[in-house]
This record gives sequence, structure tokens and C-alpha cells, in this order.
Amino acid sequence: MSTAELSQKYDRAAPAWGDKMRLLGYHDAYLGFLADSAFRSPGGTRVLDIGCGTGAFADAWAAIHGPEQEITLLDPSPEMLRRADATLAKRGINTSRAECLLEDHAPGQLYDTMLAAHVIEHVDDPAATLAEMRKRVSPGGRLWLVVSKPHWCNAIIWLQWRHRSFRPEAVRNHLEHAGWTLEREYAFPSGPPSRTSRGYVAIAI
Ligand SMILES: C[S@@+](CC[C@H](N)C(=O)[O-])C[C@H]1O[C@@H](n2cnc3c(N)ncnc32)[C@H](O)[C@@H]1O
Repeated sequence: MSTAELSQKYDRAAPAWGDKMRLLGYHDAYLGFLADSAFRSPGGTRVLDIGCGTGAFADAWAAIHGPEQEITLLDPSPEMLRRADATLAKRGINTSRAECLLEDHAPGQLYDTMLAAHVIEHVDDPAATLAEMRKRVSPGGRLWLVVSKPHWCNAIIWLQWRHRSFRPEAVRNHLEHAGWTLEREYAFPSGPPSRTSRGYVAIAI
């Protein structure tokens, strides 16, 4: 699927996406992952949510770290971005918006934190995408990554999205080659997220 086709497909999915994420438990799952005391942020307020969708991951981040966060929402789908912006506005956060692919984003400053949930599944070269993320974060900054894992649930989701799934060893390997040190892994405790996805926290070296 081309990038333009994927973006149009996400535009069409955007109106129902937020409710679906909530109903299936991904909102709470992201909150649990980010709130886990072992994964507390080392500091800095500049945050980039890559492939933000309707903003579930950034919203969970803001719920934990408060309204002083400077959040940039990045997504090639304008319909997703518009909804993500509205989600964060409810918390009183004025976001910056980047309507583009990660590889086309040229920020003026480095970020302290990268959030990326279910994005590398859509790229041809995940190591290159993780390296693009690494270029945009300060040394010592962190990446909170959520990635699809092999499971029959993902086979069903694949019929619609043609996304990829990654074994944890593959994610570890890609992170290492992209200039990240894996700090922790996180198993979602229940519901669909426990079957479809796995969390990773990595430090920029
Ligand atoms: C599966 S959705 C995940 C959305 C959100 N992170 C969530 O967990 O609800 C994938 C999102 O990544 C975006 N995306 C796909 N390829 C991308 C790329 N190369 N750079 C940035 N975003 C991308 C899509 O437009 C879509 O909104």
C-alpha cells in the first residue's frame, strides 16, 4: 500500500478510531505502560508523538506528566491529526502539529521524549525509521514504543491494515542498530493489547 493510500485509509478510519481504541482497552493500556513507575521520564518537556492517530498515546502522557508538556503531534493523516489536537485541547494543551511522515519532519530543536505506538508496523525499513526517531531526540532522551507482535489477532487485523508484526528479538535488534539502548520491555496485562502488542522503552545513546 502506498503512503498516500495509507493516509487516505487512516483519514477514513479517523472518525471511529478514538472510540475503538477506548473500547478495546488501548487507552488504558497506554496509560498503564507510561505510568509504570519503572518507566518514569528523566525530564524535559519536549515530546513528539509519531503516528499519533487520534492522540491516545500523547493524551496518556499528558495525563501523567501534566499540562506543561510541549507536545508535537505528527501524522500524515489530517483527519487523525485534527482529532488528536482536539483530544489534547481538552487538557488545555496547545500542541504543535506536523502533517507529514516522520522522515519528512525537520524540527528546529531536538525532543526529550518520543512516543510511537503501532507505527513501525507500516514502514518498509523499521530500523531506518527508528534511526530517524533517534536523530530527532537529545542524547539520554527516551523512546516509548508500542509494537504489534505475532498473534492470531494480528492476522485478523492484517486483513484490513496489511501491517507487520515483530518478535521481541527483532525489535531489540532494530533498536540496537538504530542507536538506541533498550531499557525495559513491557507486557500489557490484559485484553486485546496483551494479545496484539508489546511495549519497549529505549534510551538514546
Ligand atoms: C495504527 S495507527 C496508530 C495511531 C496511534 N498511535 C494509536 O496508537 O492509536 C498508525 C498511525 O501511523 C501513521 N503513520 C503511518 N506511517 C507513518 C510514518 N511513516 N510516519 C508517521 N506516521 C505514520 C498513520 O497515519 C496512523 O495514524
